[in-house]
Amino acid sequence: MTQLRDVRQGLSLCAYELRKASEAAARAAFIRLTRPERGPGDDSARLAMEAELIHQGIQARIIAGSTVRLGDPARLDQWDLVMDPTEGAACLTKGLTNAMACLALAPIGSLFDPGPAFYMEKLVAPPQAAGHLDPTAPVAERLTALAHCLDKPINQLTVYVLEKPRHRNLVEAIQAAGARVTLYPAGDVAGAILAALPGSGIDALMGTGGAAEGLLAACAAKVMGGTFLARLDPQLTTERRAVDEAGLDTSTWMGLDQLVRSDNVVFCATGIASGLLLDGIERRDGLERTHSLLVGGDANPRQMLTTWHRAEG
Ligand code: FBP
Repeated sequence: MTQLRDVRQGLSLCAYELRKASEAAARAAFIRLTRPERGPGDDSARLAMEAELIHQGIQARIIAGSTVRLGDPARLDQWDLVMDPTEGAACLTKGLTNAMACLALAPIGSLFDPGPAFYMEKLVAPPQAAGHLDPTAPVAERLTALAHCLDKPINQLTVYVLEKPRHRNLVEAIQAAGARVTLYPAGDVAGAILAALPGSGIDALMGTGGAAEGLLAACAAKVMGGTFLARLDPQLTTERRAVDEAGLDTSTWMGLDQLVRSDNVVFCATGIASGLLLDGIERRDGLERTHSLLVGGDANPRQMLTTWHRAEG
């Protein structure tokens, strides 16, 4: 009990501080926009995010990442951490929108662990649709149910889909049902958060994207509210084999309570390049402006934060 209370106090204190980690990563990633010679292998954003988390004494098991733990190996992990220091990195190098740095923390053992799975299929919508969407139903049925929940005709629904060859049939089915599709080459964390937020202009997110990105968005939706359903959906032969060997189920759709088994969650995202959800970094007069979304903890349920930093370099 004491330990649980300590963990909760820790979490409720750290949301505002944690945004420093997403800000640091976004600022490091921003440099890639102006210094292309650093190339795609540059991991300064990840290093900046990890350094800030370590500085704050975060001791965590990393979910769905190439690193396994963060912090002092001699200490016990307190948190589950999922991080993407350059979500939408492909956008960055092409100067496109929606790239951001993001992370989520929850008490240890409370986040679904996708193991070797890289891909996850997601169906995200505003809170009004909770309990009314069957993710296994044909697309037209799902959209009919969603339109009913949101009290608007199908032709006024906008669905966010990643622009990928695997989504060709999905896009055709959405359009055949009469709804609009907004296609983005990358960035389904922003898409999922917008889909969960009523009145954002995005009514749903459908399709398959990263599992880590799914968990990040699920953490935000758990606190902000939203309809969030997901299942593992391996796309690569090696990934499928690893998922089978790990005994992971790919047919069962999970809801927010299975993906994130705690209400005690903090999610932070800082824009790198401007997108639908966040403004990107702007440099002016020796200052660098960051725009961040904080969800949960002491920012509960959510806060948008603009910070001016002294520009370096
Ligand atoms: P990156 O951070 O690697 O650029 O990922 C961007 C992204 O579009 C995610 O938003 C999405 O979940 C995932 O990639 C989809 O993966 P893929 O591009 O392999 O289909």
